[in-house]
This record gives sequence, structure tokens and C-alpha cells, in this order.
Amino acid sequence: MTTGAVTPNLLTAAYLAASVLFILSLGGLSSQETARRGNLFGIIGMAIAIAVTTLALPPSGYPVMLVPVVIGGAIGAVLAARVQMTGMPQLVALLHSFVGLAAVLVGISSFLHPSEGAHTTAEEIVHLTEVWLGVAIGAITFTGSVIAWGKLRGSISGKPLLLPGRHALNAFGVIIVFAAGIAMTLGAAGIVPSLESAALPLLLLVTGISLLLGLHLVMAIGGADMPVVVSLLNSYSGWAAAAAGFMLSNDLLIVTGALVGSSGAILSAIMCEAMNRSIWNVVFGGFGTGEGNKPKVASEGPAGEVRTTDATELAATLSQARRVIIVPGYGMAVARAQHPVEVLTRILRERGVEVRYAIHPVAGRLPGHMNVLLAEAGVPYDIVFEMEEINDDFPSTDVVLVIGANDIVNPSAQTDPDSPIAGMPVLEVWKARTVVVFKRSMASGYAGVENPLFFRDNTRMFFGDARESIEALVAALKG
Ligand code: TAP
Repeated sequence: MTTGAVTPNLLTAAYLAASVLFILSLGGLSSQETARRGNLFGIIGMAIAIAVTTLALPPSGYPVMLVPVVIGGAIGAVLAARVQMTGMPQLVALLHSFVGLAAVLVGISSFLHPSEGAHTTAEEIVHLTEVWLGVAIGAITFTGSVIAWGKLRGSISGKPLLLPGRHALNAFGVIIVFAAGIAMTLGAAGIVPSLESAALPLLLLVTGISLLLGLHLVMAIGGADMPVVVSLLNSYSGWAAAAAGFMLSNDLLIVTGALVGSSGAILSAIMCEAMNRSIWNVVFGGFGTGEGNKPKVASEGPAGEVRTTDATELAATLSQARRVIIVPGYGMAVARAQHPVEVLTRILRERGVEVRYAIHPVAGRLPGHMNVLLAEAGVPYDIVFEMEEINDDFPSTDVVLVIGANDIVNPSAQTDPDSPIAGMPVLEVWKARTVVVFKRSMASGYAGVENPLFFRDNTRMFFGDARESIEALVAALKG
């Protein structure tokens, strides 16, 4: 099978080893304590995969393999070194788009240059079906991820694009993709000779409609549902890679793609549960905005009296507190406030205050965003709790410090059925004796919804950049 330095048996064994390393990697990434080791397993697995795939080629093929790996690796290394934690979601979305584009290109190239040797008609049909399905999934992943990238970096509006009859449009698009894909298969496999010359245009039609479908599906998704979309596109990119693996008869690509596809699907289901969304409604878009229901924006929301606080007053309040819960959100990542927050935690704990963290599943802009930041700052894992573990403890808490969080502590998710975040479980911080919200202004969060928490009697707003505010608070506590 191979003409390179690696025998087929060795190649299979190496692919098996790499697959096991990828599974260990996923296992390791499931908790902060083992995440570094998980990453290391992934790196070793990928190094083995690239090395044996290259060595399985005849030496004349090495440059074709290594030149793109070196150039792509160098660009990736520079981007990864430069990216801020707040830019990670956009980078991840962009990387998903590359997987989708790769599947499209692999599909079209394997259609134009089929593998040599005699194939039965059944084998032809299977291969051609892999081609159009792989191209369709890849194209949807590509444009969907590009739109997600634009929405996450704010260059495309977070508002959903709700075209009239969009579900019918999507259904029509899917029907055309299937019809054209099947017709292409029948033509290219020689079963319907009259379709043979139309096979390539039909494959390009599958590509074009799928590109539009990906674009339309993600344009229709409202800001509040973006977390699920990011994990869903992660899953799609896995299936696109698996499809490319089938087209190239590469077992490792099939296994890796299936791992990414299924873990992304499980993550999407977990995120949907966390946000009380139905996965189908997110997939088909526009959910959370209900046709005819205008999303509530900040300017329409409740007004009222806002009470502010400052470092000295808050230091005095905290010196009376026995139980404190810290709720970090996206603003903590923007302000890079995790380090002063860790110092604050240490000071309070040294004074005998019970300090715990409450992490909402969609806090920040990436699954696990807050956990990564807190781990980086050295906050002990055993005081960091998931929403369902800690949500009942707010009534017995003296002070809650909400640091750059907004949507995840918005009571209107429970009280306003018309809200775009209606039904999303939120951290019930308002049940504590005192809530202090660190943010720069009265601006709304990612979902663009007014937050009545800011107007509650027991809420104090601490305006300013979160890092500077927490540093001032630490200084006041020390003083
Ligand atoms: P948001 O609701 O986005 O609120 C963040 C708040 O941080 C803003 O209101 C902002 O108010 C404040 N802020 C920004 N920079 C700050 C700074 N330098 N100092 C202090 N405050 C600052 O964040 P959240 O509560 O974490 O909720 C997450 C939202 O993102 C949800 O709607 C979720 O659906 C969405 N989302 C999540 C993900 C994932 S997977 N986690 C992915 C995509 C979208 P000011 O401007 O007034 O300072």
C-alpha cells in the first residue's frame, strides 16, 4: 500500500497509538488538574500522526507534506502566542472554518482525481456519497464558522437575521443538497449515463447551497445562543474531518473526526441544558427571539435608582462579612482582573472569611473560560463551584462580588417571558444580603438585555475597570 519508509502495519499501529493518545487527551482536558497532561497527550499524538503520515509517502512527497506543515505551524504558533484570552473564541471559530474548508477541498479534489484501481459500482456509490456529504458538511462548517467569527469579534451584528420563511428556505436548501448529491452520485457512478456530464456542476451546486445554508443558519442565531453555536460548529468540524478521512481512506482522520464530532455534540447538549434551550431550535436558528418579539435592548428596560459604592465603603462591608461568593464574568477576562481577584481571595480567607466562586456554564465567551482564568491566577480548585452546586447558597451569603458579569446574573431570565434569555438558568445573586457589581457603566452584556439587578435595593454598583477597582479594594482592605 505504501512506498515510503513506513510499512502498512507500522502505519496502522502508529495510527492506533495516536488515536489512544487523543482519547487520553480528551479525558485529561475534562478537569483543570489534568488539563496540561491532556494537552501533552494531544501534542504527542499529533506529532506521531504527522511523522508517520509523512514517512509513509515516497520521499518525493515529503516537501508537499512538510512545507505546508511548517508554514501553517509557524502561523499557528505566532497567532496562539499573541492571542488574548478574550480573543480565544474568535480564534477557535476561525480554526473550525479551516477544517470545513479542508473537507470541501478534499472532497472536490477526490472527485476530480479518484483513486486508481478497479472499483465496483457499490464502492463507487459509497465513495461518491462520502464526497458530497463531506463537501456539504464542510461547506456548512466553513461559512457558519466565518459568520460565528464575525459575530464573536463584533464585526457582524449579534442580532439574529430573521428572513421571512427562513425555515422553509433551510428545508428547501437541504432538499436541493440531497437531490443534487444523489443525482451526482448516480451520474458519476455511471448508473444514469445522462447525468454523467452534469456530475461536477451538481457537486458545485451542493457546495454552493451548503455554503449559503451555513451562512444563513448562523446569521439567524441570536447573541444569547452563540455559546451553543460555537460548540455545535466544533462538532460539525469533527464530522467534516471524519468525512475527509472516509474520502482519503485515512483511519486516523476518521477516528479523530468522530472524537471531535461526538465530544462537540455532547458539549452542545450540555450547553443547551445549561441555557434551557432545545438543541433543534438552536440548530435551526432564531431561537430566543421569537418571531414578532423584538429582543429587549438596554434602552427599553427598567429604570430606577442606582446605588454606588467605593473601595473604602466596600472594605468596611467585607470586614463584617463571614460568607462571600465571587461571580466572575466576561468583564473579568477583559480587564484581566483574575490576579488581583486571587489576591483579594487570599486576604479575605486569611481573615477567616469563607470565600467561594460561582461559575455559570456560559460565563465569558468560551466553555470553561472562567475556570481557565482562575486556574491561571492560582485560585484553589476546591473553592470553585459550578452553578448547580452553589445556586442555593446565595440566601445565606453576606456579600456577592459580581466581577464583570451581567447576563448570567440577570433576574429577568426568570421573570420576563419575552426576554431573549428567558428560561436560561442564572446565578441567583440577588438573594444574598448585599450584591456588589463591578463594571464600567450601565451597559448591557452580550445578549443586549437590560439587567434589573442593578436597580435592586441590596445592589451596589462599583463603577470602573474591574482590575483597577479590585486593586483599589485590596489596597483599602490592607490599609
Ligand atoms: P456579559 O453578559 O457579556 O457581561 C460582561 C460585562 O462585563 C459587561 O456588561 C461589561 O459592562 C463588563 N465589562 C467589560 N469590560 C469590563 C472591564 N474592563 N471592567 C469591568 N467590567 C467590564 O458576560 P457574562 O455575564 O459572562 O455572560 C456571558 C454572555 O456571553 C452570555 O450572554 C453568553 O450567552 C454569551 N456567550 C458565552 C459564550 C460561552 S461559551 N461562554 C460564548 C459566546 C457568547 P461594562 O461595559 O459596563 O463594563
